[in-house]
Amino acid sequence: MKTQTAQQTSGNSLTGKKVVILGGSAGIGLATAQAAAAAGAQLVIVSRSIDKVNSALKSLPATATGLTADLSDEEQIKALFAKIGGFDHLVYTAGENLKLSNVADTNMDNARRFFYTRYWGAFTAVKHAAS
Ligand SMILES: NC(=O)c1ccc[n+]([C@@H]2O[C@H](COP(=O)([O-])OP(=O)(O)OC[C@H]3O[C@@H](n4cnc5c(N)ncnc54)[C@H](OP(=O)(O)O)[C@@H]3O)[C@@H](O)[C@H]2O)c1
Repeated sequence: MKTQTAQQTSGNSLTGKKVVILGGSAGIGLATAQAAAAAGAQLVIVSRSIDKVNSALKSLPATATGLTADLSDEEQIKALFAKIGGFDHLVYTAGENLKLSNVADTNMDNARRFFYTRYWGAFTAVKHAAS
């Protein structure tokens, strides 16, 4: 008699699915990549540093690939999705750590800068990924 894993019975397997993780070389993105790999996904991880991408790939199956792009730059995002081609799922976790201060002490240029990657980067990624 065959036994089924929880993943098989829930129908959530990512086997055969290509999953793109922007920010996948560290932290939440890398943890997501590892979980998706365990569920059978074929992975593409992306971040700015080739060293971080290569280091992260060591903890993923050999089928995983990595690319570099600065997600605060629309031209780089556009070129990235042209390289990646078709895929099934997009995960966006890229972002720098916030440096918080009291509202009264906030430098508005610095505060706005935090939106480049974490907000506009995600928006721009969806713009170019949608096609
Ligand atoms: N960890 C938490 O508990 C937590 C809680 C709430 C919110 N968040 C937010 O969630 C996001 C991810 O958190 P995390 O802990 O996973 O951070 P992390 O460990 O620092 O990982 C961030 C990832 O994003 C990439 N990245 C950053 N800027 C990029 C850019 N301009 N273009 C391309 N890739 C970029 C980094 O690689 P490169 O340096 O190679 O580019 C890295 O792979 C952050 O914005 C963080 O503030 C985290």
